[in-house]
Amino acid sequence: MNIILIGFMGAGKSEIGRRLAKELKCNFLDTDELIEKSDGRKIADIFKEEGEDFFRGLETEVLGTLQDYENFVLATGGGIVLKEENVALLKSMGRVVLLFAEPEVIYARVKSKTHRPLLQVADPEAEIRKILSYRDPFYIKAADFKVDTSKLSPDEVVKGILEWLK
Ligand code: S3P
Repeated sequence: MNIILIGFMGAGKSEIGRRLAKELKCNFLDTDELIEKSDGRKIADIFKEEGEDFFRGLETEVLGTLQDYENFVLATGGGIVLKEENVALLKSMGRVVLLFAEPEVIYARVKSKTHRPLLQVADPEAEIRKILSYRDPFYIKAADFKVDTSKLSPDEVVKGILEWLK
C-alpha cells in the first residue's frame, strides 16, 4: 500500500511522511527531492531558470516514474494538485491524505526558510492566504482523508493517520 501526503507548504508533509514511513516500515519518498536528484538543480533554481510551468511538468514526470512501485509514503510539493493529470496519478497510486493548517501557523513554520520560491515576496503571510484560498478546492477534491495539523504534534498527526488506515 502507498500513502500520498498532499497539502500546502509548511503543512508538515516531509516531517509527517518520514515518521509515518518509519511506523509503517516502508520507504519515504519526496517529489521535490526526486526532482532535484534527477534534474541536478535545486527547486528554487529550476523555478528561477525555467519557470513554474516547467517545474509542474517535472512533477508529472516524477509521478509517472513511481507508478510501478509499492509500499512507500510519498510527500508531494504543495502545488502538485493543480494539474488534474497529477491528481489522477496520485489517486491511482494510493490513499491520499491532506495535511492542512491555519495560514498563521503555516507562516510561523515557513518564515525563517528561504528555499520556497513562491514565498520570496514582500508579504509572505498575505501570499500564503492568497495561494491557499485558490488551492483549497483542489486539495479537498484530491483528498481521501484530511488532518488539521495546526494544533497537533507530529506524533498526534501520525497517530490520526494510522487510526484511519486501520
Ligand atoms: C510548491 C511547494 C514546494 C515546492 C515548490 C512549489 C508549491 O514544496 O514543490 O517550491 O507550489 O506550493 P513543499 O510543499 O514541500 O514546500
